[in-house]
Amino acid sequence: MSNTYHRPAPTGDGLRLHLNENTAGCSPKVLEALAHLSATDIAFYPDYDVVYREAAEYLGVADDRLLLVNGLDEGILMSTIGALLRRPDDGSRPEFIVINPAFDMYAITARACGGAVVNVSPRGDFEFPLDGVRAAITPRTRLVFVTSPNNPTGVRVSNDAIQSVARAVPAGAVIFVDEAYHDFCGDTALPLVDSCPNVVVGRTFAKAHGLAALRVGALMAVPDTMDPLRAVTPPYSLNVAAAVALRAAMADRERLAWYVDQVKQSRQLVYEFCTKHGFTFWVSGANFVLARVGPQAGSIVSRLAAAGIHIRDKSADPGCAGCIRVTTGIVEHTRRCLDAMEEML
Ligand SMILES: Cc1ncc(COP(=O)(O)O)c(C=O)c1O
Repeated sequence: MSNTYHRPAPTGDGLRLHLNENTAGCSPKVLEALAHLSATDIAFYPDYDVVYREAAEYLGVADDRLLLVNGLDEGILMSTIGALLRRPDDGSRPEFIVINPAFDMYAITARACGGAVVNVSPRGDFEFPLDGVRAAITPRTRLVFVTSPNNPTGVRVSNDAIQSVARAVPAGAVIFVDEAYHDFCGDTALPLVDSCPNVVVGRTFAKAHGLAALRVGALMAVPDTMDPLRAVTPPYSLNVAAAVALRAAMADRERLAWYVDQVKQSRQLVYEFCTKHGFTFWVSGANFVLARVGPQAGSIVSRLAAAGIHIRDKSADPGCAGCIRVTTGIVEHTRRCLDAMEEML
């Protein structure tokens, strides 16, 4: 597997249902706030006091348990670096457990930084493979990536399972709970961080809040776990536009609620479509649905792309033969995609 992330090809003005972005765009209040940035706001290093206070309150954590980062990808990188700094006593390579199918950046980041990736195979139903994860843990385990809801399956992981893993790993290992899609289901492992101080919760404002291009993420953990990650994170990694946009996005709760509702309706439309056509699908806690359409997956994806509608062929992901992943954003977009697929089938 490559150590490099390959950015998907540009889509022009096509309908982007392939990267789980916010298909409605960010809140208009974000654009307003950005328009008010002054020349000195841009010229000076950003001051984070207010954005930290507001973000901590919004996320329901104390300031010293929060680290704002340049997108959750940076949070993954910083957590990986933190894990590498806790090298096993015998000097061997730290191991990173990746539960497949998984978000590409875990393995890419761990390998690029010199870690050893230990892959755990998916279960047929994509439920969390707790036994497989337990079996993969060794004295060299330094980080376990858990994603809930998972990307690309949308399947949620229970806090009981996360707690079992947190208790099974050796001292010095961290459980990175990636909650990039938290807003679309409300699940969170945050209540675990006191009883399991080795749990780090990651969030992004790229999805439900529509700030993907500005790059805003958050890590949350108890101070002893967070401080080493803070120490390796560049001091101004959140740029001023991202900080201003984050404040406006967090304040616009109405917009968030509206978008989450659109996503829920869209997911339902995809489920109904799959049921009608006899496709297996997985009930999703995220803003996308994975569906098994069979050997025609590739041709469906390329024919839709030719019609300007971009979805993802996930056939090459472990356990995902014949699967496509469709971002479920605003209802009108979902209908356009499903109508085009209906014509093809
Ligand atoms: C599971 C998961 N984690 C992290 C990210 C990256 O988030 P960000 O855009 O904030 O770097 C994504 C983006 O698709 C994701 O799916």
